Amino acid sequence: MSESTSSSAHNIFPIISPLDKQSFANNHQVVAHHYYMDLTTDFKNKILVGYVDVTFEALIDRPSHVVVDARNLVIKQTKFLYKKHHKHSEDNINEQQHQEHELAFRVFSKSEVAQNGYPSVYGEPLSMSLTHEAVDLEAGNFFVVRIFYETTHESEAIQWLEPEQTLGKVHPYLFTQCQAIHARSLLPCQDTPSNKITYSSTIRTPKPLVAAMSAIKQWEDVSTHINIYHFKQNVTIPSYLIALVVGALESKEIGPRSTLYCEAEVLEAAAYEFSETEAFIKAAEEFLPPYAWGRYDIVLLPSSYPFGGMENSNLTFLTPTLLAGDRSLANVVAHEIAHSWSGNLITNSTWEDFWLNEGFTVFIERRILARLSGEEYAKFHAQMGYSHLVSSINHYKEINELQYTKMIPLLEKCDPDDAFSSVPYEKGFNFLYYLADQIVGSIPRFEKFLYHYFTVFCQKTVNSAEMKKCFLEYFADVEKTKEIDWDSWFNVEGDLIVKNNFENTLNVAANALCEKWTSGAEGTFAKSDIEGWSSTQLTYFLDILLSNDKPLNVQKLDETYEYSKYTNSEIRFGWQMLAIKHKYEPVKPQVVAFITMQGRMKYVRPLYRELFKFDAELARSTFQQYKGFYHGIARKMIEKDLQ
Ligand code: BES
Ligand code: ZN
Repeated sequence: MSESTSSSAHNIFPIISPLDKQSFANNHQVVAHHYYMDLTTDFKNKILVGYVDVTFEALIDRPSHVVVDARNLVIKQTKFLYKKHHKHSEDNINEQQHQEHELAFRVFSKSEVAQNGYPSVYGEPLSMSLTHEAVDLEAGNFFVVRIFYETTHESEAIQWLEPEQTLGKVHPYLFTQCQAIHARSLLPCQDTPSNKITYSSTIRTPKPLVAAMSAIKQWEDVSTHINIYHFKQNVTIPSYLIALVVGALESKEIGPRSTLYCEAEVLEAAAYEFSETEAFIKAAEEFLPPYAWGRYDIVLLPSSYPFGGMENSNLTFLTPTLLAGDRSLANVVAHEIAHSWSGNLITNSTWEDFWLNEGFTVFIERRILARLSGEEYAKFHAQMGYSHLVSSINHYKEINELQYTKMIPLLEKCDPDDAFSSVPYEKGFNFLYYLADQIVGSIPRFEKFLYHYFTVFCQKTVNSAEMKKCFLEYFADVEKTKEIDWDSWFNVEGDLIVKNNFENTLNVAANALCEKWTSGAEGTFAKSDIEGWSSTQLTYFLDILLSNDKPLNVQKLDETYEYSKYTNSEIRFGWQMLAIKHKYEPVKPQVVAFITMQGRMKYVRPLYRELFKFDAELARSTFQQYKGFYHGIARKMIEKDLQ
């Protein structure tokens, strides 16, 4: 085919994938199956340098080009390596090397993306021409393309930390965060959960830095002047689970299939905090198919880590704000373990169906908690979750974005980070709980359905319609299923259409004490009011005070219970939100200290927003001074919040 054909294909701006509104990949014509990354971590220049070999399958005869997502990457060269007949004849290029030749490619510019009406976060797609005569693809052919590239300082998936930002203060550090659509700033890829891939990699790090990935380590060579690691992920995963961490990591076994990685300074504390890991996995295996991934490792990240946890396959990432000292925040570990089924094994096919990932995960998380800490504790968590749902809905009301309160939001031309909130988690959870409790009428029976669901869709992607069909077929004999108003659950804005009953015994004392503080009558209060309360109960008490609109003497509350002295991050956060809401001056320095010593978005975003309402100048100047500390995604979101 002539050069002009290939260049004309390259002049047409790529269409959005018909399978996913957040991706430019033409994965309906050419689909990726495997990535092999060969990357060197260059800490001096803060870039990753190397190449990725992508194994594609042609789904049509003679596709003219293949489009992959990319953002803030420098694409240097693209090569056609070889055609192969089987997708698993991987990494062995010698016999077919003669087919190798350069491919014409084009990276669309940021202004072309903007002119076509797409947000900049969708990136600058890379289109590679397949019209070279030697390519000649038929539907069903597999072929491998090598893309030489470098990341840049703008590649949002990666945070490069200075030694000062680590606990050890000696070595630099890097970690990635790809969910939802940031993998495209780590490597050129079909960055969509609508197709699943395997991957392998070779990672080079400067001594003595250790690399870990969301995959199984095959081997390491630390005998030369650099460290070399080889990883392999053999279970198919969505691109957003690709993850890398490099740092001065120590490790410790915390279970028969679990190693904990973190800096030496927190190794013992973290090993204590997460010692229930194996018990959580076993509890999940009591009602779900066996854990499918082999190992379940954990890495505890530095304080700027923007999430509570991230379920990267085989290697959960966790925030150090979970180090409470009493395992009270370990539900996050249960949550990330639950993703080993919901999300990682069965993946939402697009980000509009994100509730299928998170709602199912929260449901499983609380079934794990019920097994380990009792039904009352699980209900207590469910009740707190509902109050978080209410505050998310209130927030979206305030900023006039009620569309994001739908269980299935429409995300056309949206940034999925904007849609992120408790809604998919807690609306999704409440919907499943409603099905289990009010429709099926038995949580154990619903758990059997979960087993079935994870068997049917194992290693596949799923959307809401498929989930509905699967549920209705499984419970065909249950009359009550006719009552379910699927459309309203999926598409109505605002609060739940049917509420659940999470009445439990763990909140009784806190409810009564809240009533006493807010009833207006002058009560007598003493530290003994909260004697023996768990951190969760102390957090819950702050939660309900916060959602109460009656006047409250926060100074007296502070003096009585010394809430400002707690180091548990949930209590600290709850206290500070409450104190700012009531315009309590002495909390300001505490807030500034907390939002500058950790970068978890769950805490820093609401605190910045509230501080901004209380003292805009302080919020702005604090952010200006510390914005280099935050992860790129957190920085982007706080910037939006402060507008
Ligand atoms: N997968 C999420 C984190 C996430 C979601 C990252 C969307 C990027 C985009 C993770 O499993 C999660 O939900 N973490 C929660 C903890 C949980 C107990 C609700 C968190 O980070 O707070
Ligand atoms: Zn989750």
